Amino acid sequence: MKPDLPHITSRRRLLSLCCLLALTLPALASLSPDRLRCEHLDNPLGIDTPQPRLNWVLESKQRAEKQTAYQILAASSEALLKSDHGDLWDTGKVASDQTLHVAYAGKALGSCQRCCWKVRVWDKDGKASAYSQPAYWEMGLLTPQDWQGQWIARTTDTNSLPAPMLRSAFTLDGKIKQARAYICGLGYYELHLNGKQIGDHLLDPGYTRYDKRALYVTYDVTDALRRGKNAVGVILGNGWYNVQTRAVWDFHKAPWRAAPKLLMQLRVEYADGRVETIGTDSRWTTSTGPITFDSIYGGETYDARAEKPGWDTPDYDDSAWAMAQVVSAPGGKLAAQMMPPIKADRVIKPVKITEPQPGVFVYDLGQNFAGFAELSVRGPAGTKVVMKYSERLGKDGTVDRADIQQHVARVDPSQQYQTDTYILDGSPITHHVSRFTYHGFQYVEVTGFPGKPTLDTLRGVFIHSAIPVAGEFDCSNPLLNRIWDAGRWSYLSNLQGIPTDCPHREKNGWTGDAHLAAEQGLFNYAPAAVYTKWINDLGDEQRPTGELPGIVPTSGWGYAWGNGPAWDSAFLLIPLYLYEYCGDTKVLCDHYDGVKRYVDYLTSKAKGDIVDIGLNDWAPYKTHTPADITSTAYYYRDAQIVALAAGFIGNEADARKYTDLAASIKQAFNEKFYHPDTGLYGNGSQTSLSCALYQGLVEPANKARVLSNLVAAVEKSNGHIDTGILGAKYLLNALLENGRADVAYRIASQKDLPSWGWWIEQGATTLWEQWSGTDSRNHIMFGDISAWFYKALAGINPDPAAPAFKHFTIKPNRVGGLTSARASYESVRGRIVSDWKAKDGCFELTVTIPANTTATVYVPVADRASIKEGGKPAADAEGARFLQVEDGRALFEVGSGTYHFTAPL
Ligand code: BGC
Repeated sequence: MKPDLPHITSRRRLLSLCCLLALTLPALASLSPDRLRCEHLDNPLGIDTPQPRLNWVLESKQRAEKQTAYQILAASSEALLKSDHGDLWDTGKVASDQTLHVAYAGKALGSCQRCCWKVRVWDKDGKASAYSQPAYWEMGLLTPQDWQGQWIARTTDTNSLPAPMLRSAFTLDGKIKQARAYICGLGYYELHLNGKQIGDHLLDPGYTRYDKRALYVTYDVTDALRRGKNAVGVILGNGWYNVQTRAVWDFHKAPWRAAPKLLMQLRVEYADGRVETIGTDSRWTTSTGPITFDSIYGGETYDARAEKPGWDTPDYDDSAWAMAQVVSAPGGKLAAQMMPPIKADRVIKPVKITEPQPGVFVYDLGQNFAGFAELSVRGPAGTKVVMKYSERLGKDGTVDRADIQQHVARVDPSQQYQTDTYILDGSPITHHVSRFTYHGFQYVEVTGFPGKPTLDTLRGVFIHSAIPVAGEFDCSNPLLNRIWDAGRWSYLSNLQGIPTDCPHREKNGWTGDAHLAAEQGLFNYAPAAVYTKWINDLGDEQRPTGELPGIVPTSGWGYAWGNGPAWDSAFLLIPLYLYEYCGDTKVLCDHYDGVKRYVDYLTSKAKGDIVDIGLNDWAPYKTHTPADITSTAYYYRDAQIVALAAGFIGNEADARKYTDLAASIKQAFNEKFYHPDTGLYGNGSQTSLSCALYQGLVEPANKARVLSNLVAAVEKSNGHIDTGILGAKYLLNALLENGRADVAYRIASQKDLPSWGWWIEQGATTLWEQWSGTDSRNHIMFGDISAWFYKALAGINPDPAAPAFKHFTIKPNRVGGLTSARASYESVRGRIVSDWKAKDGCFELTVTIPANTTATVYVPVADRASIKEGGKPAADAEGARFLQVEDGRALFEVGSGTYHFTAPL
């Protein structure tokens, strides 16, 4: 008798069922949509773009996979979406390979409306995929009428130091379905509900030109509220809204300056459908508390004896508190904060503690960064622990802030600077951090500590705009890996809701620094949403004449000095990079009038198409380069960008006009600066020569000569860089783009003065401001070398003709004894990898190409027959097509997938 093996029979039954299903169900696509994004953001709450743009990334194990169509469903609830019912929008099947910036075109969306969406795609064989995981976005408060609260404050006196605390108790009489808080607290706010702090945002909202634009933030506070008695409490910080510390940039005289103020409202949706809104008004009460001083430059003083435990709970007795004042609005339009906030990234433990003088303890965090210290301490009430932050130590081992303090001290040396003070209240051990300030530092000097602190007494907290990581790079040259890493610390230390120059001396939104570091940012991170916000800030600061200041936002400082085309062009270059790296045309289109007005402003300043205004090649090692050559080159680029943007908006007349203008500038540039007798440009500096090449101004016939002059100029400085911040970007890229990556590599891998490597040899853990090492130790303006590592050594290069890596090139350079380089990059279309090794006479290159994209891969071997892919002749590789041999490299056009090329060297 056959044994009764139930599990066998059921397995057989299951198998036949599957076969039946496979036969009846249509085969699914080998392509699946993932990482849905809305306006560059992941499930954003509180956006105010009526037709937000949607992105997705395609995953596929198949080679050469393409999207042939998509269908988006948008629904007013997860349940409707689950049942494939797009009551807000159903695109139907749209024949298209578009995966980026698909603008919502469904039913008009109202304030606070939630929109749940998903997408499915069809692959190259016309097979449909399953729908993606659901995602959502939620609209913010779209009209001024939606705001039911009033702006309130504790005082209107800008010199009142203690940080205001505001609170209100209220009762909710029903089962809560969901609740949102919409808050704009200037300069900064900390929101509490029922005894708990809401969210983990720091130094929020983002810094703007408050009398033109103020950002509000939306929180899901459903779980923080309850039926019955509730309380809301907000602490306000001065931030950039009410700068207490007087410095050369006059923020203490800013046109927007006022005492901290608050506008917020809670929107509570009850299960029975009722909606209740609780907003700020004159019934709120106010007082002061432990924060007795807070300044973005000066630091913060916290007196724990003045804490008010329970101040943010319903039953707190606030009868001694004053009534809040209703005050005027900041003047700017309220806009949704549509960028990642500033958050704590990680904790950094000190590596050393010294006591250079009795009772003076100096912590070395071993890393330079932006943030603040967390102090753990207990001791008698009234004990005052002072923490001074710096990047350097003096000869006596105490902190030396002379190099970062001068712009404050020059105005009034008595002002405190980068100093946090914590006054104990005698309670058990507390862990204290500042709230409304941040510092740039590697060292913290602690005085007044009760007893002897240990290494565990203090830790550093690294903070920055919480943007996603996108890129990783490493190679066989450890020095370059350390330069790359130092670049990341400096990039993030200088992204605090705006791109800054340095996190201590200035914290200013220097425009030149920002655009020079933008490609570094776009390769290593996903900063698009922060840049989009900041370009709006530039738009807010642009004068009717078209002029732009050197720092944004500004109190009005920086129009007379500190600007000019090499800085101002951030207004055009960063939107251009958002187009080239992220396929985003909106920023250029939104600011079309502004960028056009800027170029027209330059035209009004130009003499014979030559512009001789503004800053020149800043912070050179030795050789200076006059501004006219670099400024005119940016004038040329800017005219080209306006022509491109005119094309985006369909303004053909302007496209022609600015294309012609660019051509005319190019001619004037060469007539003025090119010396046919020598083949030199301008004064023959590395910057002049590389500027002409990099900005595309050299006539093809003169290129070889100009290039050899540039190589000679590098040779003359013994293979070292001799430029400022502008030339540093031009030099490495001009050499790369003209086939001399070997010379660029020699410059990049120097260890002695002047070089990035010399900084590292001196112990740098961030990028410095001056080649000589003076001034700031955490500037980002020499950071483009990091982007150069991706482009030159790993070989990943965007293709401006196919933006956002729709098509791109992988062209690694095996130079200067380098035996390997690897980079991965999460592009907006998916993961790109270039990973090569050269050893034992063999060259290996592994590349990963995202679905729905193609790439031209340059295998640095001339003998195409010797090249294998996956162990087989590369010419037969699936998804790859041999193109040609060019300059000793075999070119292959490849579709999506991972390829492993090998060839004998
Ligand atoms: C800033 C730089 C800026 C430069 C231009 C310096 O003070 O730190 O970041 O680019 O000024 O003037």
